[in-house]
Amino acid sequence: MSEITENIPRHVCVIMDGNGRWALSHGLQRKDGHRQGVEAVREATEFAARKGIRYLSLFAFSEENWGRPKSETDAIMSLMVHAIHRETPTLMKNNVRCLFIGDIEHLQPDVLERMDACMNQTSDNTGLTLVVAVNYSGKWDIMQAVNRLMEEQPCGKHPVTSETLSRYLSTAGIPDPDLMIRTSGEMRISNFMLWQLAYTELYFTPVLWPDFRNPDFEAAIESFTNRKRRFGKIEESL
Ligand code: FPP
Repeated sequence: MSEITENIPRHVCVIMDGNGRWALSHGLQRKDGHRQGVEAVREATEFAARKGIRYLSLFAFSEENWGRPKSETDAIMSLMVHAIHRETPTLMKNNVRCLFIGDIEHLQPDVLERMDACMNQTSDNTGLTLVVAVNYSGKWDIMQAVNRLMEEQPCGKHPVTSETLSRYLSTAGIPDPDLMIRTSGEMRISNFMLWQLAYTELYFTPVLWPDFRNPDFEAAIESFTNRKRRFGKIEESL
């Protein structure tokens, strides 16, 4: 199903923002905005798979989101459980491998069960890898990596390199994002993949996540393809 073009980003990550504002602007409840957001997730996943993007990472729920009213966090978790269950056959059909990253061990058992089942079922798929960040924060990721590294390699034995630390991050084995998209006009990283975003191209759009459609994704890719990435070097030395 892929229509691979040159110079497309290998890894795109998305901060899906604006579900609440979308709902309010339609006279609906915030949870309806999240429901509509799931539709945008489906469309973006299919688009990425078709485009030949290798990794699509979505910030679905941050550690900080627990500060929202319980009715809203319950609604998001329930939406996620149902969406994972409903969409797994489509992921299989589209050869998509699904991974969940974040402090997921502490989620409710029913949520964790669904995630595990989806990860197991899709683990041999070889197309797009869909990385869903749940109960995730960039600082948590770095801290858990440092803690695991210290447990396995007691201090002083070997110097810690960037490559060593990367191997302990929740994104181990996944290339750093080439492009990060944030919807809804906010221009922040909001504790998303802090380590991994070091040289990522940033793209901000005013479109609210539930309205984010293929032409919006296409515009983000086009902006990326027109950029010159120098990674701190000058053009001649690249
Ligand atoms: C941000 O909008 C959105 C969220 C915190 C939740 C996003 C979750 C989903 C779309 C469900 C994902 C499900 C799967 C299976 C990946 P906001 O509520 O912060 O919007 P606002 O800034 O307008 O209030």
